[in-house]
Amino acid sequence: MSATSSGVDVHTLEGAVRRATRAPSVHNTQPWRWRVAPGRIDLHADPDRRLVATDPDGRDLLVSCGAALEYLRVALAGVGAGSRTTRFPDADDRYHLATVTVRAGHAALDDANLYAQLDRRHSDRRPYDAGIPAQLVRTLARRARTFGAELVAVDGRAREALVRALDDAATGQPYRPGYLAELLVWTHRYAGARDGVPCTAVPKAGPDHDAGHLNRFPAGTLAHRTALEPDAGTLCVLTTAADDRTDRLRAGEAAAAVLLAATAAGYATCPLSQALELEATRARVQVAAGAIGHPQLLIRIGRPAEYSGPVPETPRRAVSNVLF
Ligand SMILES: Cc1cc2nc3c(=O)[nH]c(=O)nc-3n(C[C@H](O)[C@H](O)[C@H](O)COP(=O)(O)O)c2cc1C
Repeated sequence: MSATSSGVDVHTLEGAVRRATRAPSVHNTQPWRWRVAPGRIDLHADPDRRLVATDPDGRDLLVSCGAALEYLRVALAGVGAGSRTTRFPDADDRYHLATVTVRAGHAALDDANLYAQLDRRHSDRRPYDAGIPAQLVRTLARRARTFGAELVAVDGRAREALVRALDDAATGQPYRPGYLAELLVWTHRYAGARDGVPCTAVPKAGPDHDAGHLNRFPAGTLAHRTALEPDAGTLCVLTTAADDRTDRLRAGEAAAAVLLAATAAGYATCPLSQALELEATRARVQVAAGAIGHPQLLIRIGRPAEYSGPVPETPRRAVSNVLF
């Protein structure tokens, strides 16, 4: 395979795209398409994969694609390639989210250090035994800031208010027309499907499963503790100063960087978006977080319960299906 003027061959670029598709996405919809050309990779949103009832304003779709964009940069850095990102490079194409130009030998150290985490990070929906130390919150917040986002850990009374908002969203969202049908489609895929949330990634029924703030999916098969102990994970809110498409994309990039760094530090993580998909609970999240900015995603981070085994890997579409 011949190297291009960037010094990185197309086969290697396709390999980086394959690693990027390990990124988290809402309901594992993987709402992205990629174009690989000599020395560059383009990221496009796939609007056919938007969850129209769950995600009416398309925030989750853009956050998911932002996460994949950061995964791509980490994947490139892991093979020693540097990258430069231009967001929304084509004013006439709103689905063309980014162009990443690639150069061999200019990898960012921060990104390269996270390479090993791309396959290790999984959404863990079980309750956690403990939250994360304040020092790690600061480190993760610093990382989020490099993407123009703020990460706030919510404690005490504000946390209780946040959990109530999450629970109310879990109770109220099923009344939105089309929501339950969408949930059913993405949690009960056909045999051999390479997208959606498999039951192996969702905890079994039990007292914890009923806590709406932990889990929005029907009970699955993942073993977890059955004692009714409250989740002790740290609840973080990721915000941005404004709320346009670039902010949402950048929030997704920041989310991925935070998830990967928390995984590297040995913690379990889970993105939570349900409370942000409804106007009323979204406003309450904003108040609870004491945020001046716009909440884009919640992230629960903590020490997994001692006897919890690993979360099984969720499927991904073949790279040939996501390349133009
Ligand atoms: C924007 C976004 C929103 C998400 N919202 C939730 C959520 O509300 N609840 C949840 O349990 N997981 C949520 N997830 C996690 C996805 O379900 C998960 O990434 C996907 O099923 C793939 O599994 P993995 O993260 O283990 O690779 C969200 C992920 C993203 C990127």
